Amino acid sequence: MRRARARGAEMVVFSGGEPTIREDLPRLFAGAAALGLKAGLITNGRRFVYPGFAARPRGLGLEYAYVSFHSPLRRRHALSAGTDSLAEVLAAIGNLVRLGVEVTVNTVVTRHNIQDLRAMVDLLAPLQPRTIKLSALEPKGAALAAPGLVPPLGQASRAIADAIGYGKRRYPGLGFACEGLTPCLIEDFAVLDSGLAASGFILYHEATEDSACAPDHRNRAKAAACHDCADFEACPGVYSDYLQRRPAPPLKPQMRPMANSCVFVRKTTTPAARSEGARRVSVLEQGRAHAYETATTDFSDAEIRDILDLGQLYTTKDGRHSDIDHGRDLVKLNPLPGRSGVYSAAQGHPFARLQAVLEDLVGRLRGDVLEVGCGSVPLYGLLAPLARAGRIRYVGLDPEPPGLPPETGMRFVAREIEGFRAPPAAFDRILMLRSYNHIRLPSRVFPALRRMLRPGGRLIVVDGCAFGLALARQPARARPGQRGHFRNHDSDQARRLLEDFGFAALREVPVQRSGGNEWLLVLRRK
Ligand SMILES: C[S@@+](CC[C@H](N)C(=O)[O-])C[C@H]1O[C@@H](n2cnc3c(N)ncnc32)[C@H](O)[C@@H]1O
Ligand code: SF4
Repeated sequence: MRRARARGAEMVVFSGGEPTIREDLPRLFAGAAALGLKAGLITNGRRFVYPGFAARPRGLGLEYAYVSFHSPLRRRHALSAGTDSLAEVLAAIGNLVRLGVEVTVNTVVTRHNIQDLRAMVDLLAPLQPRTIKLSALEPKGAALAAPGLVPPLGQASRAIADAIGYGKRRYPGLGFACEGLTPCLIEDFAVLDSGLAASGFILYHEATEDSACAPDHRNRAKAAACHDCADFEACPGVYSDYLQRRPAPPLKPQMRPMANSCVFVRKTTTPAARSEGARRVSVLEQGRAHAYETATTDFSDAEIRDILDLGQLYTTKDGRHSDIDHGRDLVKLNPLPGRSGVYSAAQGHPFARLQAVLEDLVGRLRGDVLEVGCGSVPLYGLLAPLARAGRIRYVGLDPEPPGLPPETGMRFVAREIEGFRAPPAAFDRILMLRSYNHIRLPSRVFPALRRMLRPGGRLIVVDGCAFGLALARQPARARPGQRGHFRNHDSDQARRLLEDFGFAALREVPVQRSGGNEWLLVLRRK
């Protein structure tokens, strides 16, 4: 508890077994109070049926109780609780609420209670717990030992969504939450999700372990198709066992194009010498500080802070805000030492270092080369001589291919990669230069590219993470086209995605604060 307090914890929550049967509970509560920690319990609630017992922990600082509840029907509640305790638990919840304890009632949804959820909401609502929480069953331990207990996740999520929707309409003052679901399995996931991390737990300490750790999602997993989903980062995944069960969970990847830059617009009002908050920066221009603000809804405050912390704020040379060539058009804005939130234009070419690494790799290409999303082929000057000399046979693929003169050993295919077919092991090298973030369906494209790559072949990927752009005027909002960005990965996220599709990284040049927003990966088939 001392260590937790030092790490910033404000409350300690005791779980079990059943923590209320511990003789030393008053001593533990007193210890917490002495450290300035509030106390909470995860409990079956039964001892709180005795008003005398209930008053004691409350007097010692009990602020929060998380009470397990199984069914509004006595027999079904008993089946899961292992004892005939429905009346006791209901009375206990009433006692705790009357004592002013914040109560969350949690029901793990099983085949035994899945049809009772609306009735359960009706039974609990008059007791006025703060929150009624419905949790998907984690298929492990005792849940696996009881055949037929685990409902299919799709069925459970529909029943949970139905009961929460019903409860919200009928009891507007009551809080509702869920656990074990994902953004595609329940609407309003961001508001409803209430696992340990989402509920603000910062440390978790098993009695059998020496040290505490942060709550994590290591018992959760995602399907290959989840890599096509815009909610991938925000999603904890499903309990891994469900991915092996039939029927498979009805996961629905959300495919949404997203902005890759966060625009800060110059304010015409009084210039700010100092700026505060992630949404406001000052830029020194000819000795004067000008305030720039962003009203973007494409990025959260935390994401904007990440962009600024990574040193990725730019302005453009001529006010241009579309068709930006990073190396040619962007001027980096560096923070002024000692002046928080104030930036000034940097000298030099932040993209040059990575471009040099890329050009070196391209200069050494040999054999059959596929470039995915070749665009106007900015490296034509390097590629064409290699093709002419017979060192490479080049295929440039792009739905909007370049109008370049056909060169011996080079051909262009007007197609999206999603619809491109090639025999297995057709290429020695596959290039993806700034097209990785545009791929709509990684779950289809990367297994196909892996098949097209020869043993010993290499996949070379360059792309960029999101960046900030300080502009004099708000640009017209670009309509999200079919070929927009579908992610703003950094090299770490891209490497993990590609590893999931059978690639292994041989070289990684991550984004650096001192450089541009681009990164590079060289990968082989695993
Ligand atoms: C930012 S540009 C990069 C072009 C070029 N490789 C470069 O480095 O400048 C992205 C390119 O990817 C192409 N692209 C987008 N979606 C694609 C897809 N599904 N398959 C193939 N190319 C795609 C676009 O047409 C565009 O030319
Ligand atoms: S990442 Fe997968 S599980 Fe999560 S919301 Fe997207 S499709 Fe659903």
